[in-house]
Amino acid sequence: MEPTNDPKSNLIIVSNRLPLSIKRVEGGFESSLSSGGLVTSLSGLTKSTRFQWFGWPGIELKDPADREEVTKSLEEHNAIPIFLDKTLSQEHYNGFSNRILWPILHYQSGVSFDDTPWQAYRRVNELFADAIADAAKSGTLIWVHDYHLMLLPELLRNRLQEQGKSCAIGFSLHTPFPAGDFWRNLPVRKHLIEGLLSCDLIGFHTDEYKQNFIDTCASLLGARTEIGNQIQYKNRLVCIDKFIVGIDPQKFTETLAKPEVQERIRKLKDRYKGVKVIVGVDRLDHIKGLTQKLKGFDAFLDDHPELENKVILIQVAVPSREDVKEYQELERELCTLAGKINGKHATPEGTPLLYMHRSVPFNELAALYSVADVCLLTSTRDGMNLVSFEYVACQQERHGVLVLSEFAGAASFMSEGSIPFHPANITEMSEAIFAAINLSPEERKKKYERLRDFINTNTSAKWGQTFTDKLSYRCIIGPGLLVS
Ligand code: ADP
Ligand code: G6P
Repeated sequence: MEPTNDPKSNLIIVSNRLPLSIKRVEGGFESSLSSGGLVTSLSGLTKSTRFQWFGWPGIELKDPADREEVTKSLEEHNAIPIFLDKTLSQEHYNGFSNRILWPILHYQSGVSFDDTPWQAYRRVNELFADAIADAAKSGTLIWVHDYHLMLLPELLRNRLQEQGKSCAIGFSLHTPFPAGDFWRNLPVRKHLIEGLLSCDLIGFHTDEYKQNFIDTCASLLGARTEIGNQIQYKNRLVCIDKFIVGIDPQKFTETLAKPEVQERIRKLKDRYKGVKVIVGVDRLDHIKGLTQKLKGFDAFLDDHPELENKVILIQVAVPSREDVKEYQELERELCTLAGKINGKHATPEGTPLLYMHRSVPFNELAALYSVADVCLLTSTRDGMNLVSFEYVACQQERHGVLVLSEFAGAASFMSEGSIPFHPANITEMSEAIFAAINLSPEERKKKYERLRDFINTNTSAKWGQTFTDKLSYRCIIGPGLLVS
């Protein structure tokens, strides 16, 4: 990347997960597109913004020749791997990030703290700080993403100072930030918050998460928080704001226009003629409320015997974090539940639930979204939930209905255009599904148009632009000055 005087042309993005996940196969390596909202939102920026993307490639490689091969294959995506030892990366990723921090950020109780993964988390954040500090030049904008790297801003700030470099550091959290009392469950919480407060700018998906963070800074650290969108802690003034993350809707419009996707849509429409299709696409994760979703759908089928063979739920559960015990248990639970529901409601004409525990290609995903009359999302907590945006992007013709848990971050913006419900209330979920499939065409159109305008206005490109504009402004005026 050519450095210029414009700070935004010298942007480094850092996340644990890179846009491609690398796997060893016979005779070499294979890469596949990583799933998850973080990769979707950042990939959506690539058209409008140039950046280098640093992260963990998801595989341990000791042989320098292997490292070189993987580094080369990532280069064309401007992605730069930070290689980690297997035990260390597992303790950081599964041990601390996914088994301790992720549940706490999503209000799950009963999480037990352990020092070994915490030390690995610190170490990985240090290794990232070393790599990024070496790559940065004075004036580089550094934008760090998500809960795997909460200590990084402070470590990085120290290393940059030692090297005499002055850079603006921003951080975006892609998960909820829980209310203070819940955050107290984590004994190392102070280190994490202090780690973030070395930033110039910190972004959250919703006002609620932003406010929870501000309240926590005040109660936990005694930081000054009554100065607008800023927090003063020690000698730093940190800007805190909400930035609405989004998708690239055009990517879906273009995909739907492809002849092979149109053909697939025709086939699916034919297959489900006379049947209302409900779609769900979620990583297989506790926070997505998949158990609740299957139970709610079961209740809906019980409540409406007149709809026998007239409704199908197609649920894609994308495999995720499969080395973590809790995720393995959930997978078994869902498999059993899916079997029970079909056992109870199947007829010789077919089964009402199609449960797919695998990843589906992008074209297929777009076709599925397009033919679905309803999209059912049941998150118990969720940073934003970009699947809800993607469904809307594919509903130009059908004006399908979004049935959206009130606990998804997206519900703060989309509740009027969707049918909101409480995911723990099975009766309410059943009623919401029924209301969605019976909504009049006029009401569907009205809701659709509202959501369409929202997702077309709040794109990933706009999100990135707004964040980096604000970060580069901080860079120009210099840290520690009072700005609003
Ligand atoms: P989360 O970030 O918790 O997974 P989101 O709903 O915000 O939840 O984002 C999920 C993203 O993963 C969506 O953009 C969705 O399209 C994407 N996705 C789903 N299935 C796949 C897949 N097979 N391959 C790549 N991405 C996928
Ligand atoms: C969520 C997190 C991301 C993460 C993604 C997929 O969106 O906020 O940071 O990348 O889930 O999870 P994974 O563990 O596969 O990276």
